[in-house]
Amino acid sequence: MKNEMWSGRFNELSDELLQEFNASLDTDKNLYKEDIIGSIAHARMLESCGVLKKEELDNIIKGLNQIQNEIEQGEFIFDIKNEDIHMAIEKRLSDIIGSEIGGKLHTARSRNDQVATDFKLFVKKSNIEIIFLLKELIKTIISYAKKHKTTIMPSFTHLQHAQPISFSFYILTYAFMFMRDIKRLQNGLELADYSPLGSCACAGTSYQTNRKLSAQILGFKDIMPNAMDGVSDRDFALDLLYNIAVIFTHTSRLCEEMILFSSSEYGFLTISDSFSTGSSIMPQKRNPDVCELIRGKTGRVYGNLISLLTIMKALPLAYNKDMQEDKEGLFDSVKTARDSLVILNAMLKKIQINKENMLQSCKKGHLLATDLADYLVREKNIPFRKAHFIVGNIVAQAERKGIDISEIKDLGEFDPVFDKKTIELLDFENSLNSKKSEGSSSKASVEKQIKILERFLDSL
Ligand code: ARG
Repeated sequence: MKNEMWSGRFNELSDELLQEFNASLDTDKNLYKEDIIGSIAHARMLESCGVLKKEELDNIIKGLNQIQNEIEQGEFIFDIKNEDIHMAIEKRLSDIIGSEIGGKLHTARSRNDQVATDFKLFVKKSNIEIIFLLKELIKTIISYAKKHKTTIMPSFTHLQHAQPISFSFYILTYAFMFMRDIKRLQNGLELADYSPLGSCACAGTSYQTNRKLSAQILGFKDIMPNAMDGVSDRDFALDLLYNIAVIFTHTSRLCEEMILFSSSEYGFLTISDSFSTGSSIMPQKRNPDVCELIRGKTGRVYGNLISLLTIMKALPLAYNKDMQEDKEGLFDSVKTARDSLVILNAMLKKIQINKENMLQSCKKGHLLATDLADYLVREKNIPFRKAHFIVGNIVAQAERKGIDISEIKDLGEFDPVFDKKTIELLDFENSLNSKKSEGSSSKASVEKQIKILERFLDSL
């Protein structure tokens, strides 16, 4: 089979095995839109500097628009003889408008800068989509936070009961993680905002081109100042892969907790029927498959990051064919992030919070012990270490009696340092609201935290 693109140089035709191995069309056809708008921007730039005539430009644009239409109508023939989406579109353009004009499009451009540009445009678009989905997720979390400021639940450290908190305070933790994820994506967007187009193979071109113009048409803030860097850089893809990996670290923690909290051991919440699955054998089962799948998909997004880091490691400048391996993993991570964030948000919107079970759980594990110690420090001027000892002793006595300290009616019976009035120390809501430090679990602090998040969302 004859590969027309480089037949000038070669005597022998490509082996079919090579064609198949070398082709990336199946993967990079995903970039068809970016390739077409990239080519239109390049053609406009060529026309502005006299390389193309106006009617040649018009023909090229018409041809490219027709190709876009053909692809979207499913009429375009993807043939791996054309190797990748860039060559496939260029070949089809020459079929439509003739190679006299079609053949001019690749002036002052190489596939190296073309592919870097298309890929970067895709990465920018994906950053924006994921930011939008995270924003929706934060909104859902805020709506729970507004409703559950006095829904008491235990917090955990080492997965052991720690102190009472509200469900609002708990769930807001995730909103702040997703807020940082958005900020990281915004940083990625800013770093990716420099166009590689016009870098050509690696050293620029002898034509008097106007790279700033094509950059501007494509919505880039500016151009990459060094052509060699322009074609060698894949940091923008690594940034997105890393950012998605961190998002999945966060969603995997949230999903893990949804799985634990919806189990009969906890019973803190119920995942709705519409987002639960049954078992083929056990009629009673309700399985949290959505959460498990999102937790499991963390594996592939970490893998995709490590894969591209490894591809890029120690790669000599400038373009090397290794870099063709950059796309599959990124496309996969972006799709995984999109699908997972959409379903996670839809699932979260329908969870049911079981207040009573959360409260019952607070009555195990002596959650109020720290409040008692803090009281002794604050009101009785007892050093914290001593207070810790006194309260530890009360906990030990309660355990011997088989009760939780929240069930004690008269603390004075346990240690005379406490008088009758101190009974209010053993109230969960009082414990929450006694917190004075910034960022604490108190109702007032939770309200402030919601404001911070809302202001952030408004700024987007
Ligand atoms: N399909 C290639 C890729 O995705 C396009 C770049 C090819 N450049 C080259 N010099 N062979 O990376």
